[in-house]
Formats: sequence, C-alpha cells, structure tokens
Amino acid sequence: MISFFKFNKPIRPPATNLVDTHAHLLPGIDDGANSMAESIHMIEQMHLMGYTNITATPHVFYDFYPNKKEDIVRCAQDVQAEIERNNIPISLHVAAEYFLDDHFKELLQEGSLLTLFDNKVLIEMSMFSASPIVDELIWQITAKGYCPVLAHPERYLYLTDEDYTRYLAYGCKFQINLLSLKGYYGRQVERRVYRILKNNLATFVGTDLHKPAQLNLIKSVIQSSFFSKLPLNRTILTSQ
Ligand SMILES: [Fe+2]
Repeated sequence: MISFFKFNKPIRPPATNLVDTHAHLLPGIDDGANSMAESIHMIEQMHLMGYTNITATPHVFYDFYPNKKEDIVRCAQDVQAEIERNNIPISLHVAAEYFLDDHFKELLQEGSLLTLFDNKVLIEMSMFSASPIVDELIWQITAKGYCPVLAHPERYLYLTDEDYTRYLAYGCKFQINLLSLKGYYGRQVERRVYRILKNNLATFVGTDLHKPAQLNLIKSVIQSSFFSKLPLNRTILTSQ
C-alpha cells in the first residue's frame, strides 16, 4: 500500500511582522537600488516575504557616498509616495549607515544624525583594518545620548572577541546580516555569525539588501527552520 504520510510534512507558517533594520533601498544614492522601479520591486518582494517594517539605511561615507540628511529624507519621501501608489502594505522608515570617519565626527557634533527607531545610530567601519578612531567615536556616540548599533560585526574579520566585548561594554548593540547565515560573505564570516548568535551578542538582524539578486537567498534564510527558532520576533533578537 502506498503511504501518504511522507507527503504530510507539517508546513511551516509563513513569516510575519518582520522588521528590517538595515537595507539599501533608496534609488541612486549609494550602491543599493539603481532605480525607483528596482527599489519598489525589492520592497514588494520583502512584503511578500513577511516584512511589515523596513528602515532604509543608505551609506553616509564621505569618500564614496557623501549623502546629506535632507537628500536622504527627500529620496525616502519619493519612495514612500511610490509605495502608496503601488498599494504595498509596508511601513518605510529612514535612517542611514554611517561610516566612522572624521566626517561622521562632525555630524555627531552637529547632532544631525538620522536614527534607527528612537536614538539608535547604525555604524560601520573599515572591512580591512582596525582604525584608532573607532573606539573614540563609539564612546562619543553614547556620550551624546545615542545608542550605537554596529552593522554586521561578523564581517570585520580583524575584530577579536576582546573588541566585541569592549564595544558591547560601551553600550554598543550588534546587528547581524541575514546573508551571513548562508555563507554569502564566506565561511569565516558564517562561522563568526553563528558564534555571535550562540553567545547572545546580537540585538538586531538586518538584510543589508543591496540588489534584487540577493532576494532569493534572503527568502531561503527566512523560510529555514533555523530562522523560525530565533528568539522573539526573529529580527529583533533581544530587548533593545
Ligand atoms: Fe549596509
């Protein structure tokens, strides 16, 4: 007799109410979406994956993407209008991913930062080597009353466990990338991200979405059993 039981595997419910804290979705202002059409396509696909809240975080990196606050906000307003025109039920927020350099130091002194949620500032640093300015700036961010959120700590392979411990002690939160969980940035980064999760060091999970080609991999992480077992709402891992 043919058994039908093997076809009756429980179907995992689709992910819902996902929150993305890191995405390059604003068209033409950094290395993310190239056009409004591409931006809307990615936002629509994220909605279909279960996202209800996305924060657009374009790079603010003086040497490559010297984006000004007012230009980022204006671009986000244009995307918001297009989201409404296309009836996509998603909330778009706007912040930035700030590269820690002297220009950021000036923005911090002016107090003109675009923040994630209430007072959180998404920051990144060199992928290649440690900079002496980083510790000072992380400390200054907290001294100014902001909460620094380090984007993808797993990708800075030169950071030691002591560096992680020190940044966390300054009050920094960590945001890991979904794509790191699938080895998108290499095996070493993959090993690190699981170690960070195992040690409960991460607070947020972001897509760091840059282009449509990454959507399928992000979808496969979201549909994985591992993702469904992450604590709380799966994209905000611990109390903020
Ligand atoms: Fe990013």
